[in-house]
Amino acid sequence: MAQFRLPENSRISGGKHHPAKSGGNIRRFKIYRWEPDSGKNPSTDTFDVDLDSCGPMVLDALIKIKNEVDPTLTFRRSCREGICGSCAMNIDGSNTLACTKAIADVKGEVKIYPLPHMPVVKDLVPDLTHFYAQHASIRPWIRTQSAPPPDSERLQSKEERAKLDGLYECILCACCSTSCPSYWWNGERYLGPAILLQAYRWIIDSRDEATGERLDELEDPFKLYRCHTIMNCTKTCPKGLNPALAIAEIKKLMVARRGL
Ligand code: SF4
Ligand code: SF4
Ligand code: FES
Repeated sequence: MAQFRLPENSRISGGKHHPAKSGGNIRRFKIYRWEPDSGKNPSTDTFDVDLDSCGPMVLDALIKIKNEVDPTLTFRRSCREGICGSCAMNIDGSNTLACTKAIADVKGEVKIYPLPHMPVVKDLVPDLTHFYAQHASIRPWIRTQSAPPPDSERLQSKEERAKLDGLYECILCACCSTSCPSYWWNGERYLGPAILLQAYRWIIDSRDEATGERLDELEDPFKLYRCHTIMNCTKTCPKGLNPALAIAEIKKLMVARRGL
């Protein structure tokens, strides 16, 4: 039977309030907390942060809270430049990167949750094991049969290289896949927008010689065709990419090769 509420032990209850010690430019952050070893339900803790002594981005506030208030607050981050994809989380109701999301762009309380519909490791850290396994499953590298030129790399024309624009920039942050209702319900078998964008990136690479094989591998009622063009993926991508278009292009290639 369909379950419409979270299981009892996943429901959010209570939470601590950490008032600011000083400052007149206070902003309130409500942050999802879950400690797997505690045996307790998740909660949302409230932290009042003085923005006059904080950097401009949501990640700056998280780091300040961790450094100055609660060192147990757990989240991923690395580059602080929107490049590594580690700090993807749900901020103010949208999946995005904490390091490129300005606090000033959020009205009122800044609500922060882990990426939705993923198992949580702790606090804001989702378990991306399955997501990465799906990425590995498309074998994301150039596959060739022919011998490489003896005296050069496999070259591309400018036009061939340009086909990768809008695809190679993907940082595999998973914001798109975790905003996709089809991925929420069928994530075990549907590859989701991030992995399909990556699949398309290799399909249209002029140096790759496994296009037919790659399309065969996606010819499956779940892996590709669970996309219903809802477009959440494209709306949320913090890098401004269009995974829904990449999926549509794969579907067009499927149709073209059947001669329909
Ligand atoms: S397409 Fe955008 S949202 Fe999706 S994984 Fe790549 S960078 Fe992240
Ligand atoms: S367009 Fe497809 S992949 Fe993107 S959110 Fe909708 S169903 Fe998911
Ligand atoms: S810390 Fe690398 S993308 Fe945010």
